[in-house]
Amino acid sequence: MKKAAAILCLALTMAFAGCGNSDDNTNTPDTNGEKNSESVSGTESEQDPLADGVLNVGTNAEFPPFEFVGDDGEPDGFDMALIKAIGEKMGVDVVVENMEFDSLVASIGSKIDVAIAGMTITDERKNMVDFSDEYYEAVQYVIVPADSEIASAADLEGKNIGVQLGTTGDFIVEDIKDATAAQYNKAVDAVNDLLNGRVDAVIVDKNPAQVFGEQFKDEVKLFDGESPEFGFEKEYYAIALPKGDEELAKSVNDALAELKADGTFDELVTQYIEN
Ligand code: ARG
Repeated sequence: MKKAAAILCLALTMAFAGCGNSDDNTNTPDTNGEKNSESVSGTESEQDPLADGVLNVGTNAEFPPFEFVGDDGEPDGFDMALIKAIGEKMGVDVVVENMEFDSLVASIGSKIDVAIAGMTITDERKNMVDFSDEYYEAVQYVIVPADSEIASAADLEGKNIGVQLGTTGDFIVEDIKDATAAQYNKAVDAVNDLLNGRVDAVIVDKNPAQVFGEQFKDEVKLFDGESPEFGFEKEYYAIALPKGDEELAKSVNDALAELKADGTFDELVTQYIEN
C-alpha cells in the first residue's frame, strides 16, 4: 500500500515536472507579491495552488532525521511525515519533489507550492517567501576531527569550513574572519571531506550533526554552537510558503496546530527525532 502510494507520487511528480517545463519561461516570479497561477490545473484564471487537490512540496532529502532518502528511494523523515499529516488535514494529496536545498525558495510559486526542509526562518528568505508557524528549534553545530584543536569560534578563523550550500551554516561562515566556506550540495559530502582532511570543520544543524556524529563516532567530535565558546543564535524551522497567500498559510497553520493539539506532532518527534 505504502509502496503503491510512493510509485503514484513518483509518477505524479514526473508528470508534473514534465508539463511544468514548458511553463518555466512564462512562470517567472513576479515582483508585486502576487503568486503565479498554476497552469497545471489548466485554468488560466486559477489562483489557488490547491485547486488540483495536490500540494506540491519541495524538499532536499539530505538532512537526517528531517529528510533523507528511504530504503524505497523516496524521501522519508520527520518533515515528510509532518507534511503528509498536514496534507491529510487539509484534504489534499502531497507530492514531494526532492531538489537542491539552494533552489527551494526560488521554486516556490512555480515548480513547487511550499517547501519543508528543516528550513530556518531568516529575514533574507522572508523577502521572497512567507513562513508557517515555526515547528522546531535548532542551532548550528560544529563537527571537527576527533583530534582537532578547534574548540571555539575564534579557532575557526582562517579555516576551511564545509557547509551545505545556501544554508544558515554557510551564512555563518561568511561572518567568520578569513574563513573559507567549502560549499557542498549535500552535508554528508562535507563530512566525508572532513574525514579526508580536505576541510577543517563542518557547520551543520544540530540534529543532522548528531546523526553524522553517531555515524562516524570514533573519527569526529561535535560542538554545540549555542555554547558560549561559539555563541551561535537559536534557529527556528518553518514551512516556506508562497508570499502573500494568506489562505494557504492559514490552512497550513491550522493543520499544524491541530496536529500539535491531538498529539500527532509529538508522536512524530518521538518516532523520527528522539528515538
Ligand atoms: N536550517 C538550515 C537552513 O535553513 C539548513 C537546512 C538544510 N535542509 C536540508 N533539507 N538540506 O539553512
